[in-house]
Amino acid sequence: MSYDAHFRVWRGDSEKGELVDYPVEVNEGEVVLDIIHRLQQTEAGDLAVRWNCKAGKCGSCSMEINGKPRLACMTRMSTFTETETITVTPLRTFPVIRDLVTDVSFNYTKAREVPSFAPPPDLEPGEYRMQQVDVERSQEFRKCIECYLCQNTCHVVRDHEENKENFAGPRYLMRIAELDMHPLDVADRKQEAQEEHGLGYCNITKCCTEVCPEHIKITDNALIPLKERVVDRKYDPLVWLGSKIFKR
Ligand code: SF4
Ligand code: F3S
Ligand code: FES
Repeated sequence: MSYDAHFRVWRGDSEKGELVDYPVEVNEGEVVLDIIHRLQQTEAGDLAVRWNCKAGKCGSCSMEINGKPRLACMTRMSTFTETETITVTPLRTFPVIRDLVTDVSFNYTKAREVPSFAPPPDLEPGEYRMQQVDVERSQEFRKCIECYLCQNTCHVVRDHEENKENFAGPRYLMRIAELDMHPLDVADRKQEAQEEHGLGYCNITKCCTEVCPEHIKITDNALIPLKERVVDRKYDPLVWLGSKIFKR
């Protein structure tokens, strides 16, 4: 069964752009990315879109569909009615390069700012031992496909360009949490999380968790535990005593 859908796609570049209407054929079982490819083959040969796997695993095809941050390859056309207008726009938090392609380099910058895993210096590779429960905790965070939907959605940066410099965003605060809870990581990440990566900006709205296509519990399993660890550290009586002695 096929029908003609009404697509409204943002076309433009970093200077200017507009929503352009396209009637387009839809066939049973198709996803939004199929329709974008059909537009490229028919009415809009120069429509720019980033994609790679078409299987929800590369994280490239992130865009906003009817205002919701989604993966285009995982958004089934059957979730819309045949008469509704489907509006497709680029991720709002990152600068547009062209059409549906945005410059996501903010995320690479933030990734580089997180110091890497720091095992104890006297342990050789192959001597690392840890409990299964610690392995499983990391595994949840490792499912991340770096689609940046969470980074795009978090209100701290979505409408506040000025916060970008001081806020790593949920994906990279999650990375800091993963390392801080790692039993073999000896770096002290709590103060850095608060002072350099903007953990305090997060007010636990959970919007990041809601859009994660890998269903990672970013807020409950990473951000809240990291906040608790920062607070525990701040009110630890030994740390408090140490800071008083040091100040003298
Ligand atoms: Fe995407 Fe989820 Fe990774 Fe964020 S945590 S980048 S939403 S997969
Ligand atoms: Fe932003 Fe997620 Fe915190 S949406 S405010 S990082 S809970
Ligand atoms: Fe790879 Fe959509 S094309 S996640």
